[in-house]
Amino acid sequence: MASNKDLAIKTERLTLRPFKKSDLEAMMAYHALPEVQRYLDWKARDRVEVESALQSMVKQNRLTRPGDTIHLAVVEDDSEAVIGQIALRWTDATAGQAEVRFIFNPEFRRQGYASEAVSAVIGLGFESFNFHRIFAICAGKNQASARLLKKLGMRLEAHYREHALFQGEWDEELHFAILDREWKRSEKVKEFPQAKGKTTISSPMVA
Ligand SMILES: CC(C)(COP(=O)(O)OP(=O)(O)OC[C@H]1O[C@@H](n2cnc3c(N)ncnc32)[C@H](O)[C@@H]1OP(=O)(O)O)[C@@H](O)C(=O)NCCC(=O)NCCS
Repeated sequence: MASNKDLAIKTERLTLRPFKKSDLEAMMAYHALPEVQRYLDWKARDRVEVESALQSMVKQNRLTRPGDTIHLAVVEDDSEAVIGQIALRWTDATAGQAEVRFIFNPEFRRQGYASEAVSAVIGLGFESFNFHRIFAICAGKNQASARLLKKLGMRLEAHYREHALFQGEWDEELHFAILDREWKRSEKVKEFPQAKGKTTISSPMVA
């Protein structure tokens, strides 16, 4: 599997790159907000916790074996601000499975940024890492995330009802996924008649 150490993905309005220690303030701006963690499996983080999360994210920058994750900071080109993050986790080698996860700063939401960035990372997973299937899990009430995943062409494969207790309430979980051939087919549709929102990966990776 390829390394993303020097990876940079360029989309129409964004650059996705590995995290740096200097991203702490930008991460604090959204990790410390209770509304951000509402549908995530961690509580709002204080400075020490964000710093420790960032330290491990900086190190998690390659996929060499199942269980590895790459974390990418999403940078808005106009402001050069880090507006969110996306993780790609290699979950199974034999079956070529991976999970995508994402968080965006509320200040930058509803502008199509998450769609643009998550789409680029799914493309990276299929085209550069040769995954066979990419999945995402979101809370049943997380309408924003469910809408985003459907919009990207992911299929709702399961809805787990009241399968666990989370922060004192019944948890509902939605499982979405897309196969490599489905993604490539939809890319072809998008390319015709005219390619829009071109994505480029600056460091070609060797699988
Ligand atoms: C989910 C999240 C990444 C969406 O970010 P975003 O930048 O607002 O997403 P986009 O602007 O690309 O919008 C994607 C779609 O979701 C819709 N959407 C966004 N926020 C929404 C909301 N609060 N309610 C309903 N739909 C919403 C958008 O309208 C868009 O659909 P459309 O093009 O059909 O209108 C963001 O809300 C977030 O970070 N949430 C907290 C963390 C989280 O839940 N992560 C996911 C864990 S699985």
